[in-house]
Amino acid sequence: MDNKSLIISSATDLRLTHYPTIPVDEMKTGGTSRIAPHTDFSPITLLFQDSTGGLEIEDRNSPKDNTFVPLPPTDTTEMIVNVGDTLTRWTNGKITGGIHQVTTPESMKGESGLVIPPRMSMAYLFKAERNTSVGPLPKFVANEPARYPEITAFEFQQWKNSIVYNMEEEEHARAFDRFIETPKAIKLQA
Ligand SMILES: [Fe+2]
Repeated sequence: MDNKSLIISSATDLRLTHYPTIPVDEMKTGGTSRIAPHTDFSPITLLFQDSTGGLEIEDRNSPKDNTFVPLPPTDTTEMIVNVGDTLTRWTNGKITGGIHQVTTPESMKGESGLVIPPRMSMAYLFKAERNTSVGPLPKFVANEPARYPEITAFEFQQWKNSIVYNMEEEEHARAFDRFIETPKAIKLQA
């Protein structure tokens, strides 16, 4: 496979996201979040955020599951490079995408009666061409078994969407029975 053909520029998204104001107390209930924990579908996401804060990434060194550390904004020109699922699969897990979320900014945690200001982010999500395989590239499985099946980027996107939009379990199994892996955390792309 010609690596130059893996990504096509016309299939990428430039996504501007506005998070409306929300009371801190509402976030504490757990019934609402800005963006739930997830990994991005894309090979790579380039992300810019404003100064509001609240972006967090999973701490892989923590012995406990669901431990996140803040990625506080330093300045609005800072660009965060986020590895997504497709690169994880192409590299057979050598480079692993980070689970991230957007929640209450660190400075407002523990507070009550405050309102979290609106937040803006801008994400450039590269995407694999839809007929490209998102199975491991040959060089990453020369000396070890493939951890991911050969499916197209389009099939993978459908599979992830089915999880995001809560396809019934039976229907999911019927549609995707050859997709042998179980996602750890797949919700929404930010
Ligand atoms: Fe994301």
